[in-house]
Amino acid sequence: MGDPRLRQVSEPVERFDTPELHQLVEDMFDTMAAASGAGLAAPQIGVPLRVMIFSVDGNPRYPDAESVPTTVLVNPEFEVVDYTEISGWEGCLSVPGMRGYVPRYKAIRYSGFDPAGVHFERDAAGFHSVVFQHEYDHLDGVLYPDRIVEPHLFGFEEELAAAGIVG
Ligand code: NI
Repeated sequence: MGDPRLRQVSEPVERFDTPELHQLVEDMFDTMAAASGAGLAAPQIGVPLRVMIFSVDGNPRYPDAESVPTTVLVNPEFEVVDYTEISGWEGCLSVPGMRGYVPRYKAIRYSGFDPAGVHFERDAAGFHSVVFQHEYDHLDGVLYPDRIVEPHLFGFEEELAAAGIVG
């Protein structure tokens, strides 16, 4: 956070199934795995393209989280299916060591392309919906601290954990 590249609106991918796109996705998965992230967006590794990934299954940073299918989304879009607010503690590999309490929409329907250019659509609720919305924000230069409603619900992960506030 602080790097201006995280604040850019990223550009759509124009050519699918290229070595460059496949390499980008591979680099993103490597970065996400190295940091035990739930998801990652291309601008987080300095690439201003609308590409995001996520995957959650027994993640040590989110021990109580529901599983989220391993997904690559190129040029994603979404619509809100259920505007009910669900709030939770979020972290971000671009805001290391911190967590903030952020409201998100409960259910969405998202669509996008896979790296080969195949279009798909999916319904997501709960943590799956939250993870999508967090990564999608990165493509528009938005970071989760921007969405914290109660400024005091933001802090160092270690302190919040010591206080029993986050897991
Ligand atoms: Ni993030």
